[in-house]
Amino acid sequence: MSNDSEKTLKEIHDYWKSHSSPDYYMDKIDRSEFLINYINKYIEQNGKILEIGCNVGRNLNYLYKNNFNNLTGIEISEEAIRSLKKTYPLLAKNTNIIHSPVEDIIKELPTKHFELVFTMAVLEHIHPESEWVFEDIARITGGYLITIEAEKAKNWRIFPREYKEIFERFGLKQLEETRCDSIADLRAYTLRVFKK
Ligand SMILES: C[S@@+](CC[C@H](N)C(=O)[O-])C[C@H]1O[C@@H](n2cnc3c(N)ncnc32)[C@H](O)[C@@H]1O
Repeated sequence: MSNDSEKTLKEIHDYWKSHSSPDYYMDKIDRSEFLINYINKYIEQNGKILEIGCNVGRNLNYLYKNNFNNLTGIEISEEAIRSLKKTYPLLAKNTNIIHSPVEDIIKELPTKHFELVFTMAVLEHIHPESEWVFEDIARITGGYLITIEAEKAKNWRIFPREYKEIFERFGLKQLEETRCDSIADLRAYTLRVFKK
C-alpha cells in the first residue's frame, strides 16, 4: 500500500473487497429503522429503489419486509453478496443485486431510472478520482436521493465532502437535512433528502 494519507483508487476498492464485514453490518437494524422513516415519507411501495453500497443487504431486506418490492442494490464486495444470499434468500431472489464497483456500472443505468437512490456510509468512501460518479447519481435519480454520510470526518478511507453543494450543483434540490445523532453508530453523520 502507498502512504497512509494517499491511498490509490485501487487500494480503496481492494480494501472493501476484502474487508466488507457483512456480520457487522447485518446487526445494525437501528440504521434501517431510522432510514425507513424518510423513505416512507416520500416513496410509494412499488417505487423503484436503488441502494449503492448495500453490503449484506440489511437496509434492502428491511424495506422488502415492509413491502417495498422494486429493489436494486450495488455492492463491490463478493463476500458481502454471498452473505446477502445466505442471510436473506427471499430478498436475493426478488431483488436485483449487482456485484460491481459503482464506478463500473453507473454509466449503464438509465437517466431518471429510480424513484429513489440512497446511500448510507458509502459516498464518504468514494475515492477523489471517482467523484465523477456524483453527477451520474443525480442523473439516474428520477425522484429522490437520500444520503447518510459522514461529511467532516477524514481518514485514509473517508473523504470529507458537502453533499448539499455537490448534488445541488447537479440539479437536485435539498428538502431535508438532519443530524443522525440518535443512532449510536451514525453520530456525526448527516442525512439529506434531495428532490429532482
Ligand atoms: C461502511 S459500509 C456501509 C454498508 C451499508 N450501506 C450500511 O449502512 O449498513 C460501505 C459499503 O459500501 C461498499 N462500497 C464501498 N465502495 C464501493 C464502490 N466503489 N462501489 C460499490 N460499493 C462500494 C462496501 O463494500 C461496503 O459494503
